[in-house]
Amino acid sequence: MKIGRHELDNALILAPMAGVTDVTFRKLCRRLGAGYTVSEMLTSNTQLWNSDKSRLRRIHLDEPSPRSIQIVGSDPKQLAYAAQLNAEHGADIIDINMGCPAKKVCKVAAGSALLANESLVAEILASVVAAVDVPVTLKIRTGSDPDHRNGVRIAQIAEECGIQMLAVHGRTRACRFFGEAEYETIRLIKQQVSIPVAANGDITSPEKAKKVLAFTNADAIMLGRAAQGRPWTGVQHRVVHGSFAKSITI
Ligand SMILES: Cc1cc2nc3c(=O)[nH]c(=O)nc-3n(C[C@H](O)[C@H](O)[C@H](O)COP(=O)(O)O)c2cc1C
Repeated sequence: MKIGRHELDNALILAPMAGVTDVTFRKLCRRLGAGYTVSEMLTSNTQLWNSDKSRLRRIHLDEPSPRSIQIVGSDPKQLAYAAQLNAEHGADIIDINMGCPAKKVCKVAAGSALLANESLVAEILASVVAAVDVPVTLKIRTGSDPDHRNGVRIAQIAEECGIQMLAVHGRTRACRFFGEAEYETIRLIKQQVSIPVAANGDITSPEKAKKVLAFTNADAIMLGRAAQGRPWTGVQHRVVHGSFAKSITI
């Protein structure tokens, strides 16, 4: 699979997880089978970048390429500036977080709270894409709540704005981590856009990954909690399914 000019080693992606997927863990997962990883979310407010937490979340040049950094915020200009600085500091790809349901993120109208405001989504995406020469990707949930699943519309906006890969967690903002992820919205999104789509949510085994890929026709699988404490999950996927990683490489 390709993100802009970057050809991934395989289509198995480690999901960004704040407090879990730090640079050491990401490097370990790449070595053990993940084709691509994304950093923990970093605030777009550069005034907060001097803290130890933000310093550790920023780009690390000893990480294998392509290095992707995820930014979170709600102000288009602030996000564009944060993207620019990260690209200058060595980010190969900028990822925008519109999937986080955490209260401290949503109360400042960032993360998954943005899904309810399609015009602001468009403004943010256009502003970040225009600010950098590197590919920009987006991570979303399927909508605000089960009655407002506008994931397809958001995906179309993303494509129109020049986003080069979309990762979709099959839950809404309101669903947080409750219940089971659904893949129907991811399937519909994949039908409606031509940019690569990564399916995410509750994928815990190679068998489940195969099923989700077959159902959604997604270009990649993104694993989060299944890899937590188990960085060798990528190898397991290969071992259990033989050519699994190869078979999902586009
Ligand atoms: C501890 C934890 C931290 C997370 N942090 C982030 C984050 O920084 N950025 C983001 O986009 N998603 C974040 N997520 C969501 C995951 O990337 C993923 O979408 C979610 O866990 C569903 O995938 P899974 O079922 O494979 O875990 C986090 C999830 C967990 C459990």
